[in-house]
Amino acid sequence: MKVLIVGGGGREHAIAASVAKSSRVEQIYCAPGNAGIGKIAECVPIGAMEFEKLAAFAKENAVDFTIIGMDDPLAGGIVDVFEREGLRVFGPRKNAAILEGSKAFSKDLMKKYGIPTARYETFDDPKDALAYLETAKMPIVLKADGLALGKGVLICRTLAEAKDGVKEIMEDKKFGSAGNHMVVEEFMTGREVSVLSFVDGKTIQILSSAQDHKRAKDGDEGLNTGGMGTFSPSPFYTKEVDAFCRAHIYQKTVDAMAAEGREYKGVIFFGLMLTEEGPKVLEYNARFGDPEAQVVLPRMKNDIIDVMEACVDGTLDKIKLEFEDNAAVCVVLASDGYPLSYEKGLAIKGEEQFEGKDGYYCFHAGTALAADGTVVTNGGRVLGVTAKGADLKEARKNAYAATEWISFANKYMRHDIGKAIDEA
Ligand code: AMP
Ligand code: GLY
Repeated sequence: MKVLIVGGGGREHAIAASVAKSSRVEQIYCAPGNAGIGKIAECVPIGAMEFEKLAAFAKENAVDFTIIGMDDPLAGGIVDVFEREGLRVFGPRKNAAILEGSKAFSKDLMKKYGIPTARYETFDDPKDALAYLETAKMPIVLKADGLALGKGVLICRTLAEAKDGVKEIMEDKKFGSAGNHMVVEEFMTGREVSVLSFVDGKTIQILSSAQDHKRAKDGDEGLNTGGMGTFSPSPFYTKEVDAFCRAHIYQKTVDAMAAEGREYKGVIFFGLMLTEEGPKVLEYNARFGDPEAQVVLPRMKNDIIDVMEACVDGTLDKIKLEFEDNAAVCVVLASDGYPLSYEKGLAIKGEEQFEGKDGYYCFHAGTALAADGTVVTNGGRVLGVTAKGADLKEARKNAYAATEWISFANKYMRHDIGKAIDEA
């Protein structure tokens, strides 16, 4: 069968690597893809938001199945366009992708159906938000309502910071139209866990847990990023936590979406915080995490196409998800200066050292092919180096050893990815 993947980051590279393992797949296309994905798929120069062109490509090339990796096209309704054209596609429709696309929607859903989350208020007028903040407890969290590349969240320690935040989000529109509405949320503390799931409208199946490291610098210092590294499984995601989430969060979310007439098919990513009062939902995403996919998918034993087709066909109850009894760690190699400004176009050396090494992966995120065919840096997050190990300690050792195989002039990484597991 022929498969098209929409997206071009590290997550899509991990998806492509899983798809490439399927014995059912003979050809993979990726739009737009990147230099690493180009080694296992044919990259197609169509942007992820060019829905009509992508659907036309799928038809002309007799693509049997399309996988949407990214949030923006999902929120924009790419699945609806593909379905209208009679194409088989994996991901939530527009009316369900709102689970990630609007924080106000997801918070109201959780309140209505009793799904544990931080207490909150929503505002569409900055004056009301400012008045509310005067009496609110600090620290407090401000969230722009819409998609903001994972950056629309401000954690404010003082009233002055919170007032500045309202101005940035609602008046200066720092995150664009995402700031027309704003959620103001209680600040929670605890360990964060990322839980990915497959959903077919009714049934939900949970993947092995993971944890992301969002801050740029060691010790969780520095600015928020798209993610500097991950590990899977999370030792903090205990049997008790799992049982609680199964009883109060996962199935309830799927059922709530169905009850709202927004049948959900695809991936739901639960961003959880393990608070003293129990696990609570920080956020939902309508896609695999990046770089969570880079540690979870390599450990999945199932044929990913079988699972994704079951989501589309509503037969996920017939599938049993299985994971290797091991661990994986992903260390992101970034351009020094990320997430602010950084140089691009620098030659990347050493990737050939991954060839033929089982359990080691070099996922491309921000890379490009230069005119002379060399692979060069082309983004803030450049590569995700993943390694497996018998346990998290061994996986971490292996991943950091593999980061040494790669060189580029402004290579930057955190040195404490997975270090928290020492406290587990
Ligand atoms: P989000 O995009 O909603 O996941 O937020 C990004 C990050 O901000 C989360 O991963 C948390 O680290 C932090 N965050 C979001 N909401 C809260 C909250 N209510 N309390 C504490 N931290 C939060
Ligand atoms: N790594 C967090 C995310 O994908 O949103």
